[in-house]
Amino acid sequence: MGEGVNKLALHGGSPVREAPLPARGHIGSEELAAVSAYMDKVVATGTLGAYQGEEEEAYCAAFAEYMGGGYADAVSSGSAAIYVALLALELEAFTEVIIGPFTDPGGIMPIPLQSMIPMIADSAPGSFNTGPEQIEALISPRTSAIIVPHIAGEPADIVGIMELAGRHGIPVIEDCAQAHGARFKGRLAGSFGDLSAFSTNSGKNHSSGGQGGIVFTQDEALYQSARRMADRGKPHFLPEGATNMQATLNFNQTDLAAVVGLIQLRKLPDMIERRQAIVGQLIEGTADAAMISMRRPGEDVVSSNWFLPVAFYPERAACDKETFCESLRAEGLPVTDDYRYGMPHRQTWYTERRVFGSSGYPWASPLYEGDPNREFACPNAQAMLKSHFTMTLHENWRTRDIDDVIAIFQKVAAAYRAG
Ligand SMILES: Cc1ncc(COP(=O)(O)O)c(C=O)c1O
Repeated sequence: MGEGVNKLALHGGSPVREAPLPARGHIGSEELAAVSAYMDKVVATGTLGAYQGEEEEAYCAAFAEYMGGGYADAVSSGSAAIYVALLALELEAFTEVIIGPFTDPGGIMPIPLQSMIPMIADSAPGSFNTGPEQIEALISPRTSAIIVPHIAGEPADIVGIMELAGRHGIPVIEDCAQAHGARFKGRLAGSFGDLSAFSTNSGKNHSSGGQGGIVFTQDEALYQSARRMADRGKPHFLPEGATNMQATLNFNQTDLAAVVGLIQLRKLPDMIERRQAIVGQLIEGTADAAMISMRRPGEDVVSSNWFLPVAFYPERAACDKETFCESLRAEGLPVTDDYRYGMPHRQTWYTERRVFGSSGYPWASPLYEGDPNREFACPNAQAMLKSHFTMTLHENWRTRDIDDVIAIFQKVAAAYRAG
């Protein structure tokens, strides 16, 4: 397979890239100055606030404004945001919540933790996201909500899903953990659903420090409910004399995280543009590599490119997808063979029903009227796993890094050209 400079690193040649690609470096002097100023204030006043401090209020107001108006509550993680958004809807136990097949475990675990049954809708053909048709196939009289993860920064057909949900009177939560700033038909992901949940973990397009999350809604009553559910059911916004109204946990975000989030939010549009520009260059630079194609979203979709799915066509290559990926990694580009870890209903906690001890609840409850052993084959999702690999990228790749990544693809593609 190639000699000299073209010899693959996998076969003992020199890798295109010796040094690892650069760390993201998205936290800089502005965040440092803001955190210092906040800590100076804490020291000067002798007071470290814990609840709805002015920093958190400012961050939530800025986030809501970014979303085009509404209400935001900052919480401790994206998983917490989903948990709180679900609780805010005050659904009945042993009902069913439909969710797309690809998500983080934290995006689906809140469903059984609230004694509801996750119903796994297949993805739309050729997509990591579920769609209206796949959701509709699972709607039953037991359906109480729909959670729509927008995977990789590419929004699902949320207009079609809202139309379907509206017809059935079912509330929708958009899971925007991977899709801050992504757009569908020009509108921001997260601005369609009854509620939306964002992770602001430091690996996400938008972060509020190491961990964090946001619950967003345009509905004031749902916002008020979310505030209660994020804070041990405290009777926020309820009449004088009301007491804690729901068992839940304390999911509040700290002001320190909010200080970082506020700065990061200002940088978000530019970060997304830079990611899009990088992906554009990668697509152009690899256009002649016949066995792969980097994902170009449909015309209604603006991806925020949290990660990049790459299609692999084995019939156009002299190797399989796994060997191709191994060769890319050997040349210095970390890629993942597939997005398998993004199918949490294939994991032990789900297959062994490990939610409430060994009871098998909520599935095993006599109060659940559906089939507790129902399996979700998700053939479209399986086809996506088979046909795609994934790569991460970030907005701070420099020209040299982008050139190296293109050179890696070209070298590996040349080595495995079919025929
Ligand atoms: C789709 C999705 N939902 C939920 C989460 C959970 O967010 P967190 O890790 O902040 O709890 C993630 C995290 O990666 C995610 O990708």
